[in-house]
Amino acid sequence: MLNRRNFLTAAVGVAAAGGLAACAKEDEGSSSSSAGDGGGKKLTLGFSQVGSESGWRSANTDSVKASAKEAGYKLQFSDAQQKQENQISAIRNFIAQKVDVIAFSPVVVTGWDAVLKEAKAKKIPVVLTDRSVETSDESLYVTLVGSDFTDEGRRAAKILEKVLETAGHKGAVKIAQLEGTTGAAPAIERAKGFKEVMDADHKDDWKIVASQTGDFTRAGGKQVMAAFLQSNPDINVLYAHNDDMGLGAIQAIEAAGKKPGKDILIVTVDGVKDGFVAMSEGKINAIVECNPLLGPQLMEVVQKVKDGETVERWIKTKESDFMQAQAKDALPTRKY
Ligand code: AHR
Repeated sequence: MLNRRNFLTAAVGVAAAGGLAACAKEDEGSSSSSAGDGGGKKLTLGFSQVGSESGWRSANTDSVKASAKEAGYKLQFSDAQQKQENQISAIRNFIAQKVDVIAFSPVVVTGWDAVLKEAKAKKIPVVLTDRSVETSDESLYVTLVGSDFTDEGRRAAKILEKVLETAGHKGAVKIAQLEGTTGAAPAIERAKGFKEVMDADHKDDWKIVASQTGDFTRAGGKQVMAAFLQSNPDINVLYAHNDDMGLGAIQAIEAAGKKPGKDILIVTVDGVKDGFVAMSEGKINAIVECNPLLGPQLMEVVQKVKDGETVERWIKTKESDFMQAQAKDALPTRKY
């Protein structure tokens, strides 16, 4: 656990202003005062988003913007277009503008210490959202609001067991893995959790025969899957680290004259509407949910941090898993 007093102890480094005017946008909250400030100055939140690579990301952005508005915060929103250097510039810009709190979803796990030290030196608390970082100094951020990606990887392997059983699959399981962005927490941890279960329970019958990044995009998933099918035509399972790559892969599988969901059994992560549509059409066999609607929790935490309250070190998101048989009933109630 960390509290604001602990967080604000050391003062290291100097804040430098980054010129990210082109990407940074300001979204004003609708009400005239921020919660908890007695009707005075609005809380200003600087938020650096990964990009707009997937349906999950769009839902996450909408959730953050709507919740900031609802809370009455002044939101400075910046889209990094999946580039770490853009995020670092955005954070430096937030520091220069003296925002009250910085929140960001890091593109990759490493390389943040310098800029986080600059924020700490200026006594601006940092909240991580969605993805984690690796840091030499745990006090450089207050908390993470997001999912347990390693567990999502484990859940993907466990649900694949059910998928194989439902399909009556016998014999070797030749798995293609479409990885997320190289160096990103969900890519590293979803691969790790899946492998953990595979090594423990399926050493002899499951094999990952191809594994490469599709950068969490539909186009990436399509392109990489097409290459996988050329080099390994006998792949019979696809594990995609997100729905979008799975949806791109479905196009490549169909173009190769195979039936997604039958010739190649497919498990993906996220649970966006398009993923559920494909699952209800029989093209995806199971989805491990990763909830992007983090805005309300994030705003709650931001207010607590601003007020100097103690918050948990990791505020985990609640999620479910879905088999194909549940898709049609679940589809109308999906919120993203
Ligand atoms: O960090 C969450 C992941 O990032 C989502 O699973 C993926 O769709 C997104 O791009």
